[in-house]
Amino acid sequence: MTMGYDFRFTHFEHDHLITAFTTSWSAPSNIALVKYWGKKEVQIPCNPSVSFTLRECRTQTTIQFDLQSSKKEEILFSIQYEGQPAPSFAPKITEFLKRIKPYVPFLTHYHLTIDTCNTFPHSSGIASSASSMAALAAGIVALEEKLNPSLTKEEQTNKCSFLARLGSGSAARSVEGPIILWGNHPESPNSSDLFGVKLAVYDNVFASYHDTVLLVDQGQKIVSSTVGHNLMHNHLYASTRFEQARENYSQLLKIFSKGDLVAFVDLVEQEALSLHAMMLTSSPSYLLMQPNTLRIIEEVRAFRKKSGLHLAFTLDAGANVHLLYPDAEAEKTRRFIENNLRQYCQDNALIHDRIGMGIKNT
Ligand code: PMV
Repeated sequence: MTMGYDFRFTHFEHDHLITAFTTSWSAPSNIALVKYWGKKEVQIPCNPSVSFTLRECRTQTTIQFDLQSSKKEEILFSIQYEGQPAPSFAPKITEFLKRIKPYVPFLTHYHLTIDTCNTFPHSSGIASSASSMAALAAGIVALEEKLNPSLTKEEQTNKCSFLARLGSGSAARSVEGPIILWGNHPESPNSSDLFGVKLAVYDNVFASYHDTVLLVDQGQKIVSSTVGHNLMHNHLYASTRFEQARENYSQLLKIFSKGDLVAFVDLVEQEALSLHAMMLTSSPSYLLMQPNTLRIIEEVRAFRKKSGLHLAFTLDAGANVHLLYPDAEAEKTRRFIENNLRQYCQDNALIHDRIGMGIKNT
């Protein structure tokens, strides 16, 4: 697909639409190393971001498409979570379908019955928007491919990421793995603000990285990421932060190709704390870290100093802590996590995950 590819689907007639189609997709969550925080209309990031795609934390979604007798103004749908009606999910999906309509106009001829569930607890504080929007987009692109079989694999992948991005920015990075870049950067000529692309060059040590997610707080976040992104408009430090992320991406490319784990730890932790520094210094200011988040950070740093191992923490927009470590150090690191860090988790809950490969047709 060229960068000038038009994501609009143009050629279809009602008579040529298939009457019914059911498709199931599983999509993973991802954890950002260089963070996306701040966006322009519509879902265009203010800086490039890079993530590890996860393997175990996933959303599984089945969509049944039923052709309607006539075209409707809006895309009609019903939504179930774990087999039960889930009206609380409807506003986000309504907004998503409204945004993607110009790019998938055939959907106005269908009713969508969506059935979804997560492999991780819904209220665990793990962001499910990336995996859920990627799974939804994958089902929709599967229908598009049925209607337009000339769509290449690459076009399908890019369109899936493009649509997912319109649901949740970070979802653009959940379609493929293992390491995904989303957002323009001059050092990566194939990069785009519109969809995620795979990073091609990285030392093997990163291909088998682990991510243990410490569930410090399994409740609802006090400030949503939509509100957080908006607070970056007119933020005193916004332009410096965007510049820092661009520079960190550039550094990360070097770290990836050299396999420099010491520099990796440093960069990833700086990114996590910069993200939270933006929250601390926004107007109004807010705080998503909790006392146990800070205890874990202190323990991780002390452990690294004592052991010489390369355990790094990173944070999403919440209190939970993601612990990143290489496979060769997994045994010792796991022992430390179990003995010292599990106690800081709500209900002692944590999830051992690893780097993974993206969406799957199930
Ligand atoms: O995709 P959103 O709008 O929920 O934003 C996600 C932002 C962070 O998770 C904090 C960072 C990132 O790049 O994933």
